[in-house]
Amino acid sequence: MDKVVVIMGASSGIGAATAKLLASKGAKVTIAARRMNRLEEIKKDNPDSDILAVEADVTKEKEVQNVIDKTIEKFGRVDVLFNNAGIMPVNNLDQIARDEWTNMLDINIKGVLNGIAAALPIMEGLRQEEHKNNIKTTIIAPGSVKTELYKSVNNSEVHAGLEKVMEASGTQMEALQPEEIAQAVAFVIDTPSNMAVNEMVIRPTG
Ligand SMILES: NC(=O)c1ccc[n+]([C@@H]2O[C@H](COP(=O)([O-])OP(=O)(O)OC[C@H]3O[C@@H](n4cnc5c(N)ncnc54)[C@H](OP(=O)(O)O)[C@@H]3O)[C@@H](O)[C@H]2O)c1
Repeated sequence: MDKVVVIMGASSGIGAATAKLLASKGAKVTIAARRMNRLEEIKKDNPDSDILAVEADVTKEKEVQNVIDKTIEKFGRVDVLFNNAGIMPVNNLDQIARDEWTNMLDINIKGVLNGIAAALPIMEGLRQEEHKNNIKTTIIAPGSVKTELYKSVNNSEVHAGLEKVMEASGTQMEALQPEEIAQAVAFVIDTPSNMAVNEMVIRPTG
């Protein structure tokens, strides 16, 4: 795959699985997240792949810009931005968990916008050069996937329920594997230029 792909939130789960899959297909991949040790491990475990690891908190505009700048410096362009970083602090509204609301808005919403703001000027530049609109956007909406996401839930009851779902195996409750979502991402990236996948809703069968 001849693409330069930036993955925000690539230190675990879906982001990490996607980084490994795309890199194994020959893509040049920039992996970004706060846990640099996890990013370094991914790089170390895939020595033959073209992977650049950059520490970044998606709530910090300058750090996100740095991810894009470092990618341009190393790979010369950005073809794909996978805005995957996210948390899921599910809680009851009557808990009035303002800190969780703030974090969720900062990471899941503003983090995505920070990614777009940093990458779009580069991608537009490409578009002008090529005189055609090459920018495609896809929303991928998975159901339960076995990742570390439930760990961002502070409500103990919800946390325990989700942990049970994550541990379920061979039952109707079984969640999807992050590698399965990675395959969907790879499919979307690899579509021909006249074809755009706008939305993908992926659920476990059960
Ligand atoms: N698993 C599911 O069932 C499911 C279902 C629907 C949607 N999703 C979405 O899929 C995406 C990936 O989640 P996952 O399931 O793979 O969970 P995960 O294993 O917890 O991965 C979340 C990733 O986001 C990163 N992240 C969180 N806050 C960040 C921040 N402030 N700055 C930079 N990176 C940050 C984490 O890295 P660091 O902590 O190292 O920064 C990690 O790499 C999320 O957006 C999630 O909402 C997941």
